[in-house]
Amino acid sequence: MVRICFVCLGNICRSPTAEGVMKHLLEERGLSNRVEVDSAGTAAYHAGEPADRRSRETANRRGVPLSSIARKVVASDFSRFDLIVAMDQSNYDDLLDMARDEHRSKIHLFRNFDPDSPRDADVPDPYYGGQGGFDEVFDICRAAAEGLLQHLHEQGLLR
Ligand code: 4NP
Repeated sequence: MVRICFVCLGNICRSPTAEGVMKHLLEERGLSNRVEVDSAGTAAYHAGEPADRRSRETANRRGVPLSSIARKVVASDFSRFDLIVAMDQSNYDDLLDMARDEHRSKIHLFRNFDPDSPRDADVPDPYYGGQGGFDEVFDICRAAAEGLLQHLHEQGLLR
């Protein structure tokens, strides 16, 4: 079993979208029993809330339900998960600050799994913007999730 946790700031827009898209891809490919997927936020502002309505509606229109309830990253996440996948550079830096040395190599930037993305690119925060930002986040997450799945195959983690 591979365990993956997606992380953004609030855990209501980007990381729930990444989690939903990744779970959807795994289900389509019959791999749900091989990979556990979760998400969390570096901040607790929205803990206990479902994903932002705009994120849920955007994903639903593409056939992807978002079911996560927001929570803050906890120390045990760094031992529990094999891959901790940050949505942007700020999340990445915060995670590196929180993690002990031995766990730092588990932390990755999500879009670096997408071979067509520029190096070290962010998933842009859509919270204060319009619908276009939510559509963009969904497309970015789908491309990066495909790349992450390819990475898991290449690393032999799905055999
Ligand atoms: P997320 O988006 O990090 O993608 O969940 C945000 C959600 C809420 C806030 C910021 C970003 N906020 O400041 O409340």
